[in-house]
Amino acid sequence: MDKEKNKTLGESEIRKSVRDFYTNIATGKEKTKVDSDNLNRALGYSEEQLKSVPEEANMGLGCGNPHEKAKPAIGETVLDLGCGKGFDVFIAAKAVGDEGYVIGVDSSIDMVEKARYIGKKRKFNNVDFRLGEIEYLPVADNTLDIVISNCVINLSTQKQQVYNEIHRVLKKGGRIGISDITQAKPLPQSVLDNPRMYGT
Ligand SMILES: C[S@@+](CC[C@H](N)C(=O)[O-])C[C@H]1O[C@@H](n2cnc3c(N)ncnc32)[C@H](O)[C@@H]1O
Repeated sequence: MDKEKNKTLGESEIRKSVRDFYTNIATGKEKTKVDSDNLNRALGYSEEQLKSVPEEANMGLGCGNPHEKAKPAIGETVLDLGCGKGFDVFIAAKAVGDEGYVIGVDSSIDMVEKARYIGKKRKFNNVDFRLGEIEYLPVADNTLDIVISNCVINLSTQKQQVYNEIHRVLKKGGRIGISDITQAKPLPQSVLDNPRMYGT
């Protein structure tokens, strides 16, 4: 969905709606109705990947498997855009090992705090969760081997800015693994006018 083209709702209203929606998911006020494990198997995650991830981080909010294309390896540095409670961060952390490092960025403080708590409890020493927006990444230039993202960029009102930021933080020759949804046909006005629809 090209949110930049919606004339009914302003950009700040859309961003607030997205933030509120995921804050409610993080705090449990809003429930997802999916069987996370079955969904993730259908999306191509291996049993080994699913076993490596703390159960509490698995919210069933993804729409693909960004590791398949990016293939994080031992010693690499990875950034996950819109990390939620850290599902893909923890999978990447196992893949890069103690010599590597994985950063997760999310704009919901509740998601970030929960991800930090899970990481600490499960003794992940190579992960770092940062509060921030994917349009203005709290990450230095030219420092990462890989950027991954799972079902997040579609939520942004400034998609080109997100890609500019990915380009800024990746080292030369860095890799990208993005799974996301795209718009196949125009959406009805009733959907475009409904702030709730921008988070789902
Ligand atoms: C569909 S969920 C995906 C979460 C995670 N990737 C997963 O698969 O479990 C979208 C996540 O992106 C975050 N998010 C949405 N818009 C964002 C933005 N502009 N900047 C940073 N995070 C954002 C939300 O807070 C939420 O945690």
